[in-house]
Amino acid sequence: MSDPVPVITIDGPSGSGKGTVSARVAGALGWHILDSGALYRLTAFAVEKSGSDFNNPSQAAEIARKLDVKFADGKVYLDGEDVSLAIRTEQAGNNASRVAAMPEVRAALLDWQREAARLPGLVADGRDMGTTVFPDAPLKVFLTASAEERAERRYKQLKEKGIASNIADLAAEIRERDERDSSRSASPLAPAEGALTIDSTAMTIDEVVARILLAARERGLS
Ligand code: DC
Repeated sequence: MSDPVPVITIDGPSGSGKGTVSARVAGALGWHILDSGALYRLTAFAVEKSGSDFNNPSQAAEIARKLDVKFADGKVYLDGEDVSLAIRTEQAGNNASRVAAMPEVRAALLDWQREAARLPGLVADGRDMGTTVFPDAPLKVFLTASAEERAERRYKQLKEKGIASNIADLAAEIRERDERDSSRSASPLAPAEGALTIDSTAMTIDEVVARILLAARERGLS
């Protein structure tokens, strides 16, 4: 049998810095990256585009199974169309959270995610990477930050893009999405058994990345 592909899972709520941290850790190790949230965003986008409604799990799962997606040069293409920006809006995130609550959709995306594990290794970013998708991963991280801190980070991101917003509204939306992601019955957001929990509220990205790379070295992954 071939050696198993090493996987580092990085799970946590939106705004915890997972995306940036995962990309940095993967870059430092020279590993591949799986942005599993993008698959839920793409599914929701395709559901909306097809005119299907968001209350039909079997139809949404069928759409998820047939997604024609390509990740290239930091961009995401759906049916050949660059949707990198379109799937990053607040609306797209909220729709993604709705399809992510459907067990049928989660099952449809499972093999796809596992196939992303390729040598020399994979950094898997999501909500259930350590609990469901890669339960045998040698390093599982659960990255958190307070809702206020996450709202503030989001506010700054939007401001940089020239989009006006309000921190109190953003914090309320973040709490609402956390509640939906943590209370759903299918793969709720929760730390995996044996996960290294890192609260990034008062940490810089560099500090979080260094902490994860240290844990990887301690486990003989680098
Ligand atoms: O990480 P993100 O904001 O791109 O994720 C979009 C939505 O998808 C979010 O509501 C949580 C959900 N999601 C999930 O349920 N499981 C994953 N592995 C990744 C994302």
